[in-house]
This record gives sequence, structure tokens and C-alpha cells, in this order.
Amino acid sequence: MVSSTCELMALIIKSDFARDVIWREAFQFASPELDCRSWQAPGDLSEIEYAFVWKPEKGSLRRFPNLKCIFSIGAGVDHLLGDVDLPEGVPVVRMVEPELTRGMSEYVALHVLRYHRDLPALQQSQRARQWNELITPTAPHRRVGIMGFGVLGQAAAEALRVFGFDLACWSRTAKDFPGGESFHGSDGLVSFLARTEILVCLLPLTPETEGILNRDLFASMPRGAWLINAARGGHQVEEDILEALQSGQLAGATLDVFETEPLPKDHVFWSHPRITVTAHIASVTQPRSAAVEVVANIVRIEAGEPPLNTVDMGAGY
Ligand code: NAP
Ligand code: GLV
Repeated sequence: MVSSTCELMALIIKSDFARDVIWREAFQFASPELDCRSWQAPGDLSEIEYAFVWKPEKGSLRRFPNLKCIFSIGAGVDHLLGDVDLPEGVPVVRMVEPELTRGMSEYVALHVLRYHRDLPALQQSQRARQWNELITPTAPHRRVGIMGFGVLGQAAAEALRVFGFDLACWSRTAKDFPGGESFHGSDGLVSFLARTEILVCLLPLTPETEGILNRDLFASMPRGAWLINAARGGHQVEEDILEALQSGQLAGATLDVFETEPLPKDHVFWSHPRITVTAHIASVTQPRSAAVEVVANIVRIEAGEPPLNTVDMGAGY
């Protein structure tokens, strides 16, 4: 148990994949006194002070007149910020929890290493029964660039640093990055891309970043670069990825996110020989560790302190 100060607080849960029961158990563990209610049976709407949500219907959070904070179940808040009817003045908190961060570092390390050692080429050789004595450079000679250097980008960089990769990051504002080169803003983008052989996208989806993974961006990278998009489908222009793969500008792409999810059965990405598709599972919020973080934030709010990890509504993340 984390706290006993959540007595009589009512939290409404709107989760995905009917995971409400799992979330209730997690909150029970974190704070047994918290009164968790389901979206389908919220009871007296005026009693709800906290909302813990993933993709709520637009305008639906206005039903709760005494809401003190909206917690996003995911790190990304694009599912909320598209709602012009969000209740005014209620802070939105994005998900920052250690296991979500760990999962993303695992995903990024897995796919960076896979491209770095050119596992796709080795697998192709195996299928062709070819003894391929492929020699690849070691990590200090492989330039990896991380777009979006927030909680997840920085943790991924830490994981990659263990192998000694030549790292760079790109963010909106200037960053101190002792482990690598740091670039920021639109002025820094082309230089960042010019030195990036494996590009990892961990940006939030905002009006500024929508469609950023496009033909011009790929053209600014060295020929034969690899792309890993573990952020949002809205970042990538799908036809431009196909074109860059076709021309050889991109050697391969690992895509966890798509414009339409689930990816339609007839989508060309499923069977493309140089695209790896994963089903938006790069990293998933883990109930127990996440509930602990949410309860700690509720305790802060009840103590009159501002919650941690609030979203800057102007910046959109
Ligand atoms: P975060 O801590 O808010 O970091 C966001 C980073 O992006 C910051 O470094 C920020 O720059 C940078 N950024 C924002 N707008 C930019 C712009 N216009 N130009 C350049 N850089 C910009 O977010 P996070 O927790 O790391 O999460 C990142 C995203 O990952 C989420 O928004 C979500 O969409 C995605 N995600 C995906 C999965 C999955 O399973 N596929 C799981 C979790 C999260 P500053 O540092 O200068 O502010
Ligand atoms: C997942 O996509 C998240 O935003 O946490």
C-alpha cells in the first residue's frame, strides 16, 4: 500500500481492451481506500474527482463537474488533446512510470541492435542456405539518432549507451547530452539527420510533428538508413516510407504505430519484405507501477501541490 490518504476519493476508469478489472486490482494494491468506478457505472457524477482514461469519447469528461485531474493511461496525450470539449482548467497528466519506460528501452535496443547487426540480411541468407560471413561495424561506429529526447528518448539513449553507440538526440529545446551530440529545433534537424544511420522516433504527436517522417526527412539521411517508429502513426507518411524503401534511401523500417490501428488486413506493410510490423506494443503501461504513480500524484494534489508530469496544453505534450 502506498498511501491511506485517498479515502473517499472517487476515480473513474476508462481503459482499453476491457482492462478495468486489472486496473481496479492495481489501484486496490496502491491505495485500498480509493473508490474506483467504471465508465459504465460511474454512480453520482459529482463525486468523481479524478479520471484515469484512454481514448474517452470527445466531450465525455465534461460530465464530471468536480474533476480535479485527468490522468492519461498512456504516455501520449494526443487521444485527449484532440478533444476541444475537455473541461477547462483541469490539469492533464501524462503517464510516466518506470515499467513503461523500461519496456520502451527494451524495444528500442532490440530493433537498433537488429539493424546494427543487419539481422534481416542474415535471416535472408539463412532462408537461401547461404553461409553469409557478414561483417558489420561495432557500435561506436554506428550512428543512432533519437528524435524526441524526453522521458522515453533519454532512457532509450541510456540503454544504447551500454553498447557504445555513437548517439545523437533531437528535441524542441536545447538539451545537455553528455553521452552524445545534441540537436534541437528545425535549424538542427538536417544536421541531426545527416549523421543518423538508425533513426528512432519517440516524439509526441502534435501539430508540429505530424507527418514529420516523410520523403524530405528520409532524403536528409544517409542512403540505406533504417527507421524505427515507436511513437505515433500520425508521424509517418506511409507512401513516403514505401517510396524510400523502393529507392533504397531507407534499407528497412520497424513500425509499431500506424495511421489506422489495428493495421487493416489488406495493408501493404504486412507483407513488405523490409518492414517489420508490431501491433502498438513497443511499450505498455504496467498497472501496478502505474497505479503507484497515479496515487502519489493524487496525494500531491490533495496536499495542495501541483501534480507531476502535467501536459503543457499549448505545446501539446
Ligand atoms: P516526453 O517526455 O514529453 O518527451 C517528448 C520529447 O519530444 C521531448 O524531448 C520534446 O522536446 C520532444 N519534442 C516535442 N515536440 C517537438 C518538436 N516539435 N520538435 C522536436 N522535438 C520535439 O514524452 P515521452 O514520455 O518520452 O513519450 C514520447 C511519445 O512516445 C509519446 O507522446 C507517445 O506518443 C509515444 N509512446 C509510444 C508508445 C508505444 O507503445 N508505441 C508507448 C509510449 C509512448 P523538449 O525536450 O525540448 O520538450
Ligand atoms: C502508448 O502508446 C502510450 O502513449 O503510452
